[in-house]
Amino acid sequence: MEPAPKLTLNNGVRMDQIGFGTYKVPAPDTADVVTLALRAGYRHVDTAALYGNEEGVGKALRDFTAGSNVVRDEIFVTTKVWNTDQGYDSTLRAFDASMSRLDLDVLDLYLIHWPCPERGLFVDTYRAMEELYRSGRVRAIGVSNFQPNHLRQLMDATDVVPAVNQVELHPWLQQHELTNLHREHGIRTVAWSPLGRGAVLSDPVITSIAADLGVSPARVILRWHVEQGSIAIPKASSAERIKENLDVFSFELTPEQSSAIAGLDRNQRSGSHPDQVN
Ligand SMILES: NC(=O)c1ccc[n+]([C@@H]2O[C@H](COP(=O)([O-])OP(=O)(O)OC[C@H]3O[C@@H](n4cnc5c(N)ncnc54)[C@H](OP(=O)(O)O)[C@@H]3O)[C@@H](O)[C@H]2O)c1
Repeated sequence: MEPAPKLTLNNGVRMDQIGFGTYKVPAPDTADVVTLALRAGYRHVDTAALYGNEEGVGKALRDFTAGSNVVRDEIFVTTKVWNTDQGYDSTLRAFDASMSRLDLDVLDLYLIHWPCPERGLFVDTYRAMEELYRSGRVRAIGVSNFQPNHLRQLMDATDVVPAVNQVELHPWLQQHELTNLHREHGIRTVAWSPLGRGAVLSDPVITSIAADLGVSPARVILRWHVEQGSIAIPKASSAERIKENLDVFSFELTPEQSSAIAGLDRNQRSGSHPDQVN
């Protein structure tokens, strides 16, 4: 399958609009599952120090680039600093540890995993990331799970506008206030749990559109993300689902179908509220 089209971030770096999510991919299976994704055409992999599988991601990248004509620079890799490593010096140390596990010289995107407002450290953490960005060790920096107030506070105190904010987003949680703020500042929205951890797949509006289009519910939801201008990072375990989730560039939703999905927003999270993670 062809790789996904790329979107340009606010510093000119380009990122595939569909990436492969690796949360809860067990460490021993990671290299095999990420290899399935790379073989299927994914050129964007999302991991995090928390997931305990950066080594497997690194192994898949090494083996795949050694055995194909795809070079490292064609694959976009994101990882994230975990909450307990927030702070200037500890973020620099956490970055080194992630890079050593990934076995990479340069990272594509480094994110603050959660704002953790009670820790009060996200500005210091981001300043360390700005340092990594200026030194060329990371091509883009950004945040994850930032609410509008966290983003405003960060942008007031730092120099580099985040390239992305990776947040929970799917038809049941559309986050319009946040995505409008992103648009205003040139921040790309990356949708985590783009399928609502699988729950949104059985929504009757989604299954009905899927039947009308003759495609799977997962493809309908991921196509909706693409048409919203978001980047989506679905996770799947089988080769069949991994391929299916990338196959969203050969059809379109009608305006009526898009409006029906817009009507599903009900502010329903599958994960934690960012103010409650510390
Ligand atoms: N920044 C953050 O705080 C944060 C938080 C959560 C997640 N994330 C990132 O976002 C990624 C995706 O989120 P997620 O894993 O929570 O949820 P998701 O991608 O919305 O959903 C994954 C679930 O959907 C199922 N699925 C996937 N494709 C399918 C298909 N074509 N048909 C039927 N079922 C399908 C998967 O099953 P199988 O695995 O059994 O195939 C899995 O149970 C994560 O892997 C991680 O990289 C980031």
